[in-house]
Amino acid sequence: MLYTLLRPLLFKLPPETAHRATFYLIEQARKLGLLPGHPFACQPRHLMGLDFPNPVGLAAGLDKNGEYLDALSALGFGFIEVGTVTPQPQPGNALPRLFRIPQAEAIINRMGFNNHGVDQLIDNIKSANYKGILGINIGKNFATPIEKAVDDYLICLRKVYDYASYITINISSPNTKNLRQLQNTEELENLLQQLKSEQKKLTGTYGKYTPLVIKIAPDLELEQIDALAGLLLKHQVDGVIATNTTLSRVGVEKFANAQQSGGLSGAPLAPRATAVIHRLQTTLQGVIPIIGVGGIMSATDAKDKIAAGASLVQVYSGLIYHGPNLVRDAVQVVCLGTDIK
Ligand SMILES: Cc1cc2nc3c(=O)[nH]c(=O)nc-3n(C[C@H](O)[C@H](O)[C@H](O)COP(=O)(O)O)c2cc1C
Repeated sequence: MLYTLLRPLLFKLPPETAHRATFYLIEQARKLGLLPGHPFACQPRHLMGLDFPNPVGLAAGLDKNGEYLDALSALGFGFIEVGTVTPQPQPGNALPRLFRIPQAEAIINRMGFNNHGVDQLIDNIKSANYKGILGINIGKNFATPIEKAVDDYLICLRKVYDYASYITINISSPNTKNLRQLQNTEELENLLQQLKSEQKKLTGTYGKYTPLVIKIAPDLELEQIDALAGLLLKHQVDGVIATNTTLSRVGVEKFANAQQSGGLSGAPLAPRATAVIHRLQTTLQGVIPIIGVGGIMSATDAKDKIAAGASLVQVYSGLIYHGPNLVRDAVQVVCLGTDIK
């Protein structure tokens, strides 16, 4: 209700200003006790060795530096993913780099992993009170050549290992040159082998197993999805997030901003992301859990992702267009099986 009133005002601001204003408003609402303050109740989901209090999480990219964990956790999510974070701080692409397409409930972004670096992220996590399930999403610096990408993932993996409930390996952002080629069989085989071997060492060092999750693009051919799923099984990866933003412009062609370069998210992405989940599931058969994300704008969209094979879901653009009640509605429908009145 409150968000319905605020949205027209927020949408008058440039998107990145609205982003900061929204965090401020959430923080104030939390302090005033206007937010749920804890995860919405549900039968917990046990996956990857973790107990998720409910299956609706926040997708990566909204809180890249883990600066707003306490405010965001008050919205009732079952889990929160921060990042993408890189070994060194970097400014990301030049502004403007974030565009709304309200007619299609879509967003195009070419942020380019703007973040304060992995060390600052860890400091922020340490100073937060949040004790819920925390995914940390890691990537490579813009300046690191793609042949050396594994080194960046290993640096981040070692640093975040002890602070994360699970770690997401982002190889699917369209805004870092050549990053998506890490999804090709040869590159992925090498990446997974090195990451799993490091995970094994770190398990010994910390006496704690932190699951590794791969985040993939929606723009893969069916054969590529099958090959990728085969590799995830072969290397015993713990989970897969499907999907990141798309390069496709289907569904937004006629609207202003559609020709901006970057990744498209929101409503037009939903069918594509759901199709990827469905295809992954035919190979993974529940052995590796799928976290479904992409165009969840309503509780029904969340239910569709679960029906396609996802065990958990994440939201981003839906929050921008529909506000935090989306979390409550999605939990209610997915988890309790009750329809929204
Ligand atoms: C502005 C913006 C920034 C994003 N940044 C990241 C990021 O840093 N890392 C990442 O893995 N995904 C990032 N994403 C992708 C989202 O996590 C999500 O996969 C995608 O937007 C599809 O979900 P949605 O349709 O609910 O937004 C970003 C998305 C948006 C809109």
